[in-house]
Amino acid sequence: MPVIAVIGAQWGDEGKGKIVDMLAEKVQMVVRFSGGDNAGHTVVNQYGEFGLHLVPSGIFSTQATCVIANGAIIKPDVLLKEIDLIRSRGVDTSRLFISNRTHVIMPYHILFDGLEEEVRGGKAIGTTRKGIGPAYADKIARMGIRVGDLLDKDGLLERLRPVLEYKNNILTKIFNVKPLALDEVYNEYIKYGERLAPYVRDTVTMLEAALDRKEWVLMEGAQGTMLDPDFGTYPYTTSSSPMAGGACTGAGLGPSRITHVLGIFKAYCTRVGGGPMTTELKDEMGNALRERGHEYGTTTGRARRCGWFDAVAARYSTIINGFTTAAITRLDVLDGLPSLKICTAYRLNGKTIHEFPASIAELEKCQPIYEEVPGWQTSTNDARHFEDLPENARRYVKRLEEVIGCPASIISVGMRREQTIHKINILPQ
Ligand code: GDP
Ligand code: IMO
Ligand code: MG
Repeated sequence: MPVIAVIGAQWGDEGKGKIVDMLAEKVQMVVRFSGGDNAGHTVVNQYGEFGLHLVPSGIFSTQATCVIANGAIIKPDVLLKEIDLIRSRGVDTSRLFISNRTHVIMPYHILFDGLEEEVRGGKAIGTTRKGIGPAYADKIARMGIRVGDLLDKDGLLERLRPVLEYKNNILTKIFNVKPLALDEVYNEYIKYGERLAPYVRDTVTMLEAALDRKEWVLMEGAQGTMLDPDFGTYPYTTSSSPMAGGACTGAGLGPSRITHVLGIFKAYCTRVGGGPMTTELKDEMGNALRERGHEYGTTTGRARRCGWFDAVAARYSTIINGFTTAAITRLDVLDGLPSLKICTAYRLNGKTIHEFPASIAELEKCQPIYEEVPGWQTSTNDARHFEDLPENARRYVKRLEEVIGCPASIISVGMRREQTIHKINILPQ
């Protein structure tokens, strides 16, 4: 019963969508276990190009069952639109299922996300404004609405009435904005419930059955480890756990079931939104990386902040996730650069440190210590074996393996499925 957890190892947008789409062809189940439509997973395959927010990137597989599990969070209208869109492009969505335990984003969550960001002023997190933080806060505060609630007409009204009254009090008395009408919210969400009903299951049972049948399962992470609320650059983080541990609580999977933890690393670094990024390049090189890599957000279209590979953060990510192998993506974006830099330590208050600081104030003061390595002058887009790569690209990958702390199993050299080098095979033969 092999379970591969596919985990964003940096600040998100590492290329998880491409990797999951590619691996999904060989597995029987793909489970999205965290985040909501703050995620944007790009998939390019025979059906075209897609920027998926909620539907697992395994949906294009000819055999995999796809699950949106309890640790994820859904905005029903966004999910329904996404299902309609992929269906209209010829994709079979009959194997898509949603956990009855998955929480739902409500209209007030979107309002609060925007209002709270405004309150933060210059210290804004730069959220995607999709209501993610307020919705997960309600889950923990035991005020959330779950997918299962949308299928219970009387139960939903009973559940929603006091919650909305409380939210309206805050909206009107603290933020001075208009309250939401109970009947409107209720009627809207009951309709979503009717449309979602065919997809809703107790997905824990489905997962258990798949594992009993010794099927291969992929756990699809969203966001990245450095956005984890416990271990990331708090408070500049998201609100659910993108990590390997999150795959367990986010799907109802015992930790001992995970057989392989695949960390997805970009060959350099990007970040969208606020918060410290030690290797950020605010110069011509940063702009060059953005333009070469078309580094603009899949969800919000915002320019991604770009910088050199941060090995201090990468090593930390390996430790807290227990990566068994890494996928290194977007190597081709570095083609043609005369030289590259890897940040191997930080300088903080005159000292060299190798540990990733917990304190945001310290992190903001850290300066990168770089080692410089030679680039390569030929295209890597057509490489299909490690030996096809130019020598300096091979050296760069080997150096990344050393600093990350685990071997690379996959090297990605382009957006398309086939633009991939399988250095170590992690799939069924
Ligand atoms: P995700 O959120 O981790 O799924 O990543 P995104 O889809 O937000 O961003 C990754 C971007 O890189 C997408 O546009 C992908 O199509 C693209 N991509 C993935 N792997 C590669 C690669 O190896 N080379 C290039 N050039 N683009 C890639
Ligand atoms: P994928 O799955 C990159 C970032 C936001 C913001 C912070 C909090 O595509 O890798 P939120 O809306 O979650 O409250 O925003 O987290 N963020 C992402 N950055 N990729 C993502 O997802 C992200 N999801 C959230 O930009 O800085
Ligand atoms: Mg993305």
